Amino acid sequence: MVQTLRMRQIGLGLAMLVGALIFFLWTPGLGESQPQLPPISTTTAASSSHSRLFGPDYHGRSNSANINRVTNSTLGFSKVFVIGLPERTDKRDAMALTSSLTGFNLIIVEEDLESALIMEDDMDWDVRLQSQLETVAKGTRTLLGSSSKPNSPYGDDWDLLWLGHCGEIFPEQLDENKGEPLYSKFVIKDDKTVPPRDKITGLVDFKAHPEFTRWVHVTGAPICSFAYALSKRGAQKVLFDLSVDRLNANFDNALGTFCRNGGSKKGDPTGLHANCLSVTPPVFFHHRPKGLIGSESDINDHGDDNNKIREKGTTENIMWSARNNIRNMLMNTKMESQF
Ligand SMILES: *[C@@H]1O[C@H](CO)[C@@H](O)[C@H](O)[C@H]1NC(C)=O
Repeated sequence: MVQTLRMRQIGLGLAMLVGALIFFLWTPGLGESQPQLPPISTTTAASSSHSRLFGPDYHGRSNSANINRVTNSTLGFSKVFVIGLPERTDKRDAMALTSSLTGFNLIIVEEDLESALIMEDDMDWDVRLQSQLETVAKGTRTLLGSSSKPNSPYGDDWDLLWLGHCGEIFPEQLDENKGEPLYSKFVIKDDKTVPPRDKITGLVDFKAHPEFTRWVHVTGAPICSFAYALSKRGAQKVLFDLSVDRLNANFDNALGTFCRNGGSKKGDPTGLHANCLSVTPPVFFHHRPKGLIGSESDINDHGDDNNKIREKGTTENIMWSARNNIRNMLMNTKMESQF
């Protein structure tokens, strides 16, 4: 949370790099989706031929120009932030929150952003991220029941979009829901950016569903806050929940509790009812770079593995890893698939 909302300056350089990378993504087309209820369902057509549409030329292929806003240089959010080592400054966060609610701004909220995408600095994604996000935006809009011209291209009234996680389940899988399907899901079928079933990692029983399916769904109980977007209201709720109200767990867990079970809408009347939506399998995942395994993490000590060399970078759940295809993007050569 601290790292979330402080939106630290040091992230900006990296954010620009990420922005630049995103700008050069290759995005084969996705077909239009036809949501139906329930469950909400959409089919994305197989990617078209080898039309290589790099950055400045790619402005989305959705019928709705409004949805195509997700292909801009900040992915349809106000800004993209990349965070490094977090440090606790919950007192300042409390001040910032309180001041913003009172009507003046200190830091963070200072820029008065409508939304922000926050990601850890080891993130990876499919080179087709922007077209994935068009479909994701259709999903979030549908689940939120948004107007056709919402303020955010992802729809109105969301607090947090959980786009990168290391595992997530559907709300009906939670013990407290006893299998009750409380919420509709937006089903993306035949998504060519979803890895084959035996390669996906996560907590959903993927074998129980058709292969190459991705879901946009009400958040169940996600693990790892790799990449998530906050709306302004969501940011304020997170600040309140995690710094003012309590700070009793590590950030991942606290954010997971904040969003758990759709913000526990039907539960605690004093709760914040966070309107959180997730994408599963996720569209962001952390990258394990090639090179010395010991140099990879700021936190983990890999013990005996410290001196081992990884010959090739890997990223779970991502088909055409942007990290592994940097040269291909630069040289306009064929994209390499991980799976
Ligand atoms: C991208 O789109 C979002 C949503 O419309 C907007 O808030 C943001 O300012 C845009 N980014 C740029 C760089 O124009």
